[in-house]
Amino acid sequence: MTELKAYGHRIAVIGTGAIGGAVARRLLAAGHDVVVWNRTASRTAELVDAGATPAESVREAASSAALTLLTLTDHTAVQQCLAELDADLSGRTIIAMCTGTPGEAIRAARKVAALGASYLDAGLQTSPELIGTDAATILYSGSRPAFQRHRAVLALLSTPRFVGEAPQAAAVWDLTLFGLWYDAQLGLLRALDAVREAGVDVAEFADTAVKQLGHVVAAAPATASELLQASYPAGPATLAEHLTVVRHLIELRDGQALGDGGLPAVAARIEALIEQGHAGAGLTATIAPTTGEDGLAG
Ligand SMILES: NC(=O)c1ccc[n+]([C@@H]2O[C@H](COP(=O)([O-])OP(=O)(O)OC[C@H]3O[C@@H](n4cnc5c(N)ncnc54)[C@H](OP(=O)(O)O)[C@@H]3O)[C@@H](O)[C@H]2O)c1
Repeated sequence: MTELKAYGHRIAVIGTGAIGGAVARRLLAAGHDVVVWNRTASRTAELVDAGATPAESVREAASSAALTLLTLTDHTAVQQCLAELDADLSGRTIIAMCTGTPGEAIRAARKVAALGASYLDAGLQTSPELIGTDAATILYSGSRPAFQRHRAVLALLSTPRFVGEAPQAAAVWDLTLFGLWYDAQLGLLRALDAVREAGVDVAEFADTAVKQLGHVVAAAPATASELLQASYPAGPATLAEHLTVVRHLIELRDGQALGDGGLPAVAARIEALIEQGHAGAGLTATIAPTTGEDGLAG
């Protein structure tokens, strides 16, 4: 604990690439005591010129800091760096700031707990240029006390948002938000591909596509509320009506560059629900729990 007291306000930045470099610069600009380590040591030179202390090893950096930020390519790099730590890091906080899966976050949290430290996982909804601005959001999950303890420092980097005590929560948010974007964007690309193939005016179609995408945006809160209440009203169409359209779409998309978007699995799910007597339910019923009070079964 003597060492921790001596370096109680020090922050270690492990990995000084695009994100790590921006984070370290922001912390230095705010007057923090920053220690840096990078696998390719020469890449810390600019930060050292700006006032950062260079460390010889991950171990030296992390054991001298109250807060360690692992701003690395991925969780393979995170595990490699964590494997270098063997000292008791009680009272310290370690944050993995990289894109990863929920399973990887759980693994990192276990390793950090074994070192006696608190773990936070971070989902970066930002780019290096936006670090230090209100336009950046970083999602955190894991130890709530650690988040609260370091909140003021984290607020220097972005709008910090705590999304849950499960270590993997930030990764789930981060990945599913990416997934939402991919689903919408790839849906648009599939549509443009199909209309161009059919000789339809793509620009004119795109204007109408904006309105169609707007319907999804506008209905998002009501859809979440249906899920929370386990109530699945038909809305614009029943499952029986959706099935007809989904089958037509599978035929239309046959042979398209981006495939069918997983619609055969959707059709199979709707067919199963119709067989169970839910033909009049709405589309949200397709993600109803497989068993539950609502009576919908898998
Ligand atoms: N850049 C963005 O716009 C952005 C946006 C959102 C999320 N992210 C996420 O943020 C994370 C960092 O991205 P970045 O853009 O900063 O990447 P980057 O510029 O490529 O930097 C990666 C850093 O990781 C280090 N590294 C890689 N493998 C390592 C290993 N095995 N052991 C030790 N150090 C290792 C690199 O060291 P060397 O210098 O030695 O190679 C470098 O410091 C990634 O998970 C990325 O997906 C980035």
